[in-house]
Amino acid sequence: MTQSQRRLGNMPAGIDALAFACPKAYIDLEDLAHARGVDPAKFTQGLGQRKMAIASPVEDTVTMAVDAGQQALKVFDIDPESIGTLIVGTETGIDHSKPVAVYVHELLGLSQRCRTFETKHACYGASAGLTASLDWIGSGRARGKKALVIASDIANYGLNTPGEPTQGAGAVAMVVSDRPRLLAIEPTTMGDYTRQVMDFWRPLYSKYAIADGHYSIECYLDALTGAREAALEQSGEVYGSIIACLYHVPFVKMAKKAHHRELECVLDRSLDLQSPNDLALFNESFDRMAAPWLDLNADVGNIYTGSLYLSLMDLLRQGHETHANQRLSLFSYGSGCCATYCLGTVAETAHQFAQLIDPQSMLDQRRRLNVSEYEEMIVASENAPSQTSLKPQDYGVHSGLSYVGTVDHQRRYVFM
Ligand code: CAA
Repeated sequence: MTQSQRRLGNMPAGIDALAFACPKAYIDLEDLAHARGVDPAKFTQGLGQRKMAIASPVEDTVTMAVDAGQQALKVFDIDPESIGTLIVGTETGIDHSKPVAVYVHELLGLSQRCRTFETKHACYGASAGLTASLDWIGSGRARGKKALVIASDIANYGLNTPGEPTQGAGAVAMVVSDRPRLLAIEPTTMGDYTRQVMDFWRPLYSKYAIADGHYSIECYLDALTGAREAALEQSGEVYGSIIACLYHVPFVKMAKKAHHRELECVLDRSLDLQSPNDLALFNESFDRMAAPWLDLNADVGNIYTGSLYLSLMDLLRQGHETHANQRLSLFSYGSGCCATYCLGTVAETAHQFAQLIDPQSMLDQRRRLNVSEYEEMIVASENAPSQTSLKPQDYGVHSGLSYVGTVDHQRRYVFM
């Protein structure tokens, strides 16, 4: 975006509202490490994680999406009638055919004059929804309406697996409009990357994701290089003009690895972190441009398709007025794999919403599970789809929307 576009208020479309929801319980990763006979530093420093949100049987992709969606509409004072497209990005859907989005549509009371669907491509689903919404607005088909894009997922690798400390659950709702109050997204500096790889997937017969963990990290980094190159092909290097680099964050250390790769792309050479000069260069850049926006991810865990946007919320909740009109990069990766690298510009009004989008008090109110409660919760949640009657109070859930069982093959939801 040029200076004159900013002056004239000619911002491209982008994110107008943001809200986050997650389950009401969590496990501390030090507790998990002790139970698994692992040095806690492996989880807290090696992976960079502190806590992991754990969904109970009455919390699912729908309940979290509705919670986040309600907050986004309420906090940003958006009329549900103004939503013309609703997209839920998820890889933990609740039905082979019926999209999460249509439940969410009803529960949010959106207009019937609305297009509604679900997007899936591992952790890329919400970014597919976001870019489709930007295109929808850009094409003129939206005719002044807004899109609601919700990322909602529960990461489940199974007990006692290498992926176990990289689980989590949560939803991020984003309203996309042609007058974004939070972040404009540059349409012409966006690059995509696709390659068929078996790094992470979940076969139809499996409750758990299968991950070739170390290979998935390589695939992620290759996708970052590829999507970044595609994005900057015409503009040239932008590193000097951006204030932050935001990444897909399956675990916090992954963002550090990503920033290492980003800097190698910028410098067009490899960085040797054994060399004091390179280490100092990397640390300065990481501490300034990526590390400050990873706290929410460290306290929630992997929320799959929403994790990039949780990092964006972390940046925006800090309310830096100096960020107004500044550019940042966003990198979204979905295993399998597909990725997009793009640039955004923080809106002048963004800092006014900092407190309103900050989920810290909600996170502080969560219930800490001990390891046996956590293990029981995981097993109970796996059995939840075939239960006919579930009581939210039995799982410490006393407000909001709950899944209460499946009767006549239909999932039932109740607001408390
Ligand atoms: N103190 C400090 N650090 C320690 C330590 C200790 N005692 N012990 C180990 N570490 C460090 C290791 O050195 C390592 O750090 P580096 O990568 O910087 O070297 C880190 O802790 C992890 O150790 P390991 O690699 O030995 O851990 P692991 O083999 O048990 O598995 C994992 C790690 C591959 C991430 C695994 O948790 C996993 O498979 N997770 C799921 C897959 C995943 O998240 N992939 C990410 C890319 S794909 C993607 O992004 C899509 C998505 O959301 C899934």
